[in-house]
Amino acid sequence: MRTPYVAGNWKMNLDRRAAGELAAAVRDHAADGVHVGLFPAMVHLDEVTRITAGSHVRVGGQNCSDQVSGAFTGEVSAPMLKDIGATVVLLGHSERRHVYGETDAFISSKVRRALEDGLDVMLCVGETIEQRKDGQTETVCRTQLAAGLDGVERSALERVTIAYEPVWAIGTGETASPEQAGAVHTYLRGILAGMYDDDAAAAMRILYGGSVKPSNAKELMAVPDIDGALVGGAALKPETFLPIIDAAR
Ligand code: PGA
Repeated sequence: MRTPYVAGNWKMNLDRRAAGELAAAVRDHAADGVHVGLFPAMVHLDEVTRITAGSHVRVGGQNCSDQVSGAFTGEVSAPMLKDIGATVVLLGHSERRHVYGETDAFISSKVRRALEDGLDVMLCVGETIEQRKDGQTETVCRTQLAAGLDGVERSALERVTIAYEPVWAIGTGETASPEQAGAVHTYLRGILAGMYDDDAAAAMRILYGGSVKPSNAKELMAVPDIDGALVGGAALKPETFLPIIDAAR
């Protein structure tokens, strides 16, 4: 059985105080049965890891470097994230791919680096609206998944979570239907089985992301291959995030 996983991607939002208050509210709500993750802005990681220490909440960076240390101005390394108490990192988010031009090869080197340096990874994949209209959804998701996991050993898979996030559903209020999302999740699990084996694929969690809110969380997560949610906008307030955690129970 895959434990449901609900994660909040705070993106470039909240100030230190608001981040701390939200982290405390999530900490007080998190309990057995659902894994809960928070991805605050880098500058708030220290505060959020301190507030959630000893709780069920896992805290991660929204990105990391593919290098360990050195002359890489503006970058943050996986060991630095680990050092301040983060246990996971989000990689390949569509905003990194499409706003900052990160390639599959670059994301792949970050995935390997993060795993090697002891962080869990949440790897995001997803197609744009043009790609979906063009019938390219499966090809795009397969390519991003295969590239992202290139060189990742089967033994490291238990530290990887996949997030399927159709780009057209992120921040738009438009959500993939349970059928649309479920079809891609089932397809991705099949790809994982081909890359590794059935047991490995069956054990991996594949989260859905893209305008998840309290009103649609339950029906999305009721789909057998949808193992939780990666939440953006609705993760910024306890009123909308905590019900999504409950919906995963
Ligand atoms: P959204 O963002 O929930 O605001 O659509 C999801 C994400 O980008 O992870």
